[in-house]
Amino acid sequence: MAQQPGSRIAGIGAYAPERVLDNRELEKLVDTSDQWITERTGIRQRRVAADNEAASDMALQAAQRALSAAGLTPADLDMIIVGTISADMPLPACAAFLQQKLGITKIPAFDIAAACAGFLYGLSIADQFIKTGMNRCVLVVGVELLSRVLNWQDRTTCVLFGDGAGAAVVVPAGGDGRGVLSTKLYTDSSLAESLCIPAGGSKERITVEGLAAKRDKVHMIGQDIFKVAVRNLTSASRSALNAAGLEAAQVTWVVPHQANLRIIAQVAQRLDIPLERFVLNIEKYGNTSSASIPLALDEGLRDGRIKAGDTVLMCALGAGISWASALVRM
Ligand code: ACO
Repeated sequence: MAQQPGSRIAGIGAYAPERVLDNRELEKLVDTSDQWITERTGIRQRRVAADNEAASDMALQAAQRALSAAGLTPADLDMIIVGTISADMPLPACAAFLQQKLGITKIPAFDIAAACAGFLYGLSIADQFIKTGMNRCVLVVGVELLSRVLNWQDRTTCVLFGDGAGAAVVVPAGGDGRGVLSTKLYTDSSLAESLCIPAGGSKERITVEGLAAKRDKVHMIGQDIFKVAVRNLTSASRSALNAAGLEAAQVTWVVPHQANLRIIAQVAQRLDIPLERFVLNIEKYGNTSSASIPLALDEGLRDGRIKAGDTVLMCALGAGISWASALVRM
């Protein structure tokens, strides 16, 4: 039997950089076409950060909007969790720079490197800390500045990704049934190297040859990920539903990670939830990794589709491969 939720989302905010890069512009950069990108992925355009923007700048915008939606201020926060694989620097955490920009200090601030599942990992961790009574106001951010870690000569990756940020303020539930009903987290490392940035970590140092071969940029074997994505997103979604004692038919909206419209359509079919009940914005933003779920959630809330009391299923899968699901009564 489902328990009362321990935490709830008090506010959501998002930010996308101004610069729009559409498929036609990409045709000038690599051997691709608007038709190929649209048919294979559903993406028509993506946002690209300005040269003077860092991930923590985008995170700040989303965080301020989420705090304002929650009617809270940075001083109310007692933890910051940032899901990102494109932090300002390899060291320290993007969350530390975000804390600095929010003008606060002395609260824990750390990053989660779970790629596209980063926001849901953060939400799950926030939920646990609030349930145990350790924390009362946790900021969870998903932010990616992927345009800086892409090889703009590799058509198999550069057409897929975009920059953006989204944030949620998580607080104790109010006892009215609204809140985080369940979360599920998974990692299967058997495909760890199918999606990676090979050089720049402790395994492979950056060399002149490595830079020329773009080994410091994203490498992906898309088909490997595609196959497991449909299966794992479906089973994780079912597990989140089972844990909350709910059926797919009781879900009001699905807010999936926006990596590929074909993946989402197949998940919809397997869950037997019509695609009309999915909040989709992949067309406008591409794959923004850990930012994609809060970006879509924010859009669904702001345009009035998602209403208070709606049951929202979220699921995401990315590098690791790590994947996750969450069921939230808004
Ligand atoms: N434009 C034109 N042709 C292209 C492009 C392009 N941009 N990219 C690849 N092609 C070509 C390939 O070279 C191949 O040509 P060939 O048949 O002559 O060899 C052909 O198109 C088909 O390529 P596939 O890789 O089989 O295409 P597929 O239908 O699998 O689509 C895609 C590729 C979009 C990458 C898909 O596999 C996918 O979405 N995978 C999952 C991605 C994902 O979910 N990643 C995880 C999240 S990201 C993260 O964690 C940061």
